[in-house]
Amino acid sequence: MSAFRVEVGPDGVALLLMDIPGEPVNTLRGSFQEDFEEVFGKIAEDPAVKAVVLASGKPESFVVGADIEMLQRIQTQAEATALSRGAQAAMSRVEQLGKRKPIVAALHGPALGGGLELALACNYRIATDSPRTQLGLPEVQLGLLPAAGGTQRLPALIGIAHSLDIILAGKSVRPAKARKLGLVDEVVPRAILRDVARRRALELAKGELRPQRTKLDLKGGLPRILRSMADAEVLQTVALEENPVGRRILFQQARKALQAKTHGHYPAPEKALEAVRVGVEKGPEEGYRTEASLFGELLVGDVSRRLVEIFFATQELKKDSGVDDPSVKPRPVNKVAMLGAGLMGAGIAYVTADAGIPVRLKDKDDAALGRGLKQIAAILEERVKRRRLTRRERDEKLALVTVATDYSGMKTADVVIEAVFEDLKVKQAVLREVEREAPNAIFASNTSSLPIGKIAEPAERPDKVIGMHFFSPVNKMPLLEVVRASKTSSETVATIVALGKKIGKTVIVVNDGVGFYTSRILLPYMNEASHILSEGAAVEDIDKALVDFGFPVGPMQLMDEVGIDVGAKVAHILEEAFGERVKAPAGFEKLVENGRLGRKAKKGFYLYGESGSKEKVVDRTVYELLPGGQRRHSPPQNEIAERCVLQMVNEAALCLAEGILRSARDGDIGAIFGLGWPPFRGGPFRYADSLGAAQVVEKLRRWQDKFGARFSPAPLLQDLAKSGGRFHKG
Ligand code: NAI
Repeated sequence: MSAFRVEVGPDGVALLLMDIPGEPVNTLRGSFQEDFEEVFGKIAEDPAVKAVVLASGKPESFVVGADIEMLQRIQTQAEATALSRGAQAAMSRVEQLGKRKPIVAALHGPALGGGLELALACNYRIATDSPRTQLGLPEVQLGLLPAAGGTQRLPALIGIAHSLDIILAGKSVRPAKARKLGLVDEVVPRAILRDVARRRALELAKGELRPQRTKLDLKGGLPRILRSMADAEVLQTVALEENPVGRRILFQQARKALQAKTHGHYPAPEKALEAVRVGVEKGPEEGYRTEASLFGELLVGDVSRRLVEIFFATQELKKDSGVDDPSVKPRPVNKVAMLGAGLMGAGIAYVTADAGIPVRLKDKDDAALGRGLKQIAAILEERVKRRRLTRRERDEKLALVTVATDYSGMKTADVVIEAVFEDLKVKQAVLREVEREAPNAIFASNTSSLPIGKIAEPAERPDKVIGMHFFSPVNKMPLLEVVRASKTSSETVATIVALGKKIGKTVIVVNDGVGFYTSRILLPYMNEASHILSEGAAVEDIDKALVDFGFPVGPMQLMDEVGIDVGAKVAHILEEAFGERVKAPAGFEKLVENGRLGRKAKKGFYLYGESGSKEKVVDRTVYELLPGGQRRHSPPQNEIAERCVLQMVNEAALCLAEGILRSARDGDIGAIFGLGWPPFRGGPFRYADSLGAAQVVEKLRRWQDKFGARFSPAPLLQDLAKSGGRFHKG
């Protein structure tokens, strides 16, 4: 069945609706080239058609991009390059037809990737002002580049600098911004979209309308890519794009900015930049050829494969109810109560209200509640400033949060989440109060290390006790780790998983245990970094090794951020459970005794002066408290990274074997979305698969010979090494 329907009106305007039968959204599938050829060929030859309106037959989206499963099936670089050439030819077919019969793209909902490239091949673009409408080229997020002419047509339409912002970051823009950039010609209410499009199509056909295409002056809103160099040099060069010298500066600067951001780990943005550059400097023909050939390289490369796997894993998780029995249904959650308005409590209250669910926030006194509300208001205000939210929406969301210093207003809560101090006795006391005051509620604990089963010991209804482990900052970190204790009911799990998804999180469900999954694999990693420091390494060398590996920050900086005292506390809890293996190096307790608690105390491994300098500077006085004193000798970078990372991989394998994890997939997603594990390395299990279990075991054994039992390879890794097996199939 065809992906298109055509209705020719008496005015000579053909309404061309893309509507792939049986699919919720339109994607560009394997057959799209033939589909395009057929439908645009017919329109070209139909004398009754003077102009065309291209729209979507789907109610809430235009075209969301290429069919990713189709991309995943491609095996060779040549095949991938050919696919891009075919897509370019299809878009060029649209462009050619437009020269005779103008085509207006009528856009509502997402127009992404190949969808936006299709719109770019039309003569004129109109978008609805709906918040659902977004335009973008997200290909780099999958390690790819726009390969249906996007790297050529976008710069031609809106200028180089602004298109680099869109292409290199893979972010999408909303209608108002798209209008400002010249990406669309008009923004209209949805109700009149097709009518206006029809009118414009006729006006174009009659020569009565000439699109106004003045490119946005760089002064009138500097693109992100140039903001880092927003010094006199650039601002004076207003005509940056108009002359070869200016363009060279622009491309150099963009390359530098990318390098600083990706550390060379993500080839896609660099290749996209290259495709744009070639097109600008050597003309579109050469540009298209480069685009296709670089797409071919990227698609079969490891980085894109890993990013696509992550994409599919998150898609699967969206459909995962968190329990194996499909007959278990989540209960509706109409009201949430939040205990503790601290850093985490306020963050959780914010994401809950943001999803439209009323929250009752409780803390000990008004001062604490005031701080919590201030934190929530600040996040909302930031969104208003960035025009993501209207003032009215902000007020509506804020009105969903009410506060109290007692349990009033909690009787009807469906879920009560606690984020009080990390102390078993305190949490158990709070649990008993909740059972009394909110008799029907599920009790969810945001503990980062205490076993849920322990917290639930005094519970009368342990089936309703569960862990909801959020990550800081809650409004930004995408993961929610749901912890199921032995007595937690399936209905409770399904309800909390559904709630987690509703508040926008990627949810994994793990079984109970000290540190669950994420805290448990983080600790040996951090611990290894501490050992390396105690052996005499320099703080900055340890951090650099892991940032170069791909983590967003190194372990020393992370310790400063989390709080050295908090880390020590969690370490202690894990040490009690797992013994010697995770024991912190001797002498580390001196840091906490000395008041070195990290950023919050403005005293940690790094300096937190008032200098305002962004560059992190190590506080060398910390070495006075550590073995080795001021004379630091660091092992080679690759050894530092290998030791820390293998600790994490090994612990993850233990978690999988013990049944803490339900799957290697969850383990990879948990590490990437919760701990910042580098996505291009696919998570600890994909990483182990890429090295091969035998090699992982061999490396672990080598470190074991040197440092003892803490590097003893997990039995599961040993088994896989023997059998040649993998964590992931295929
Ligand atoms: P925080 O110290 O900022 O906030 C705790 C709040 O709970 C305080 O405002 C305190 O007044 C309040 N509180 C104490 N007892 C209370 C009670 N009985 N009723 C109501 N409120 C009470 O601590 P933070 O950082 O928000 O952590 C809270 C919990 O979240 C801890 O269990 C922690 O382990 C966990 N967690 C923390 C993460 C982080 O990065 N800070 C990450 C994930 C979990």
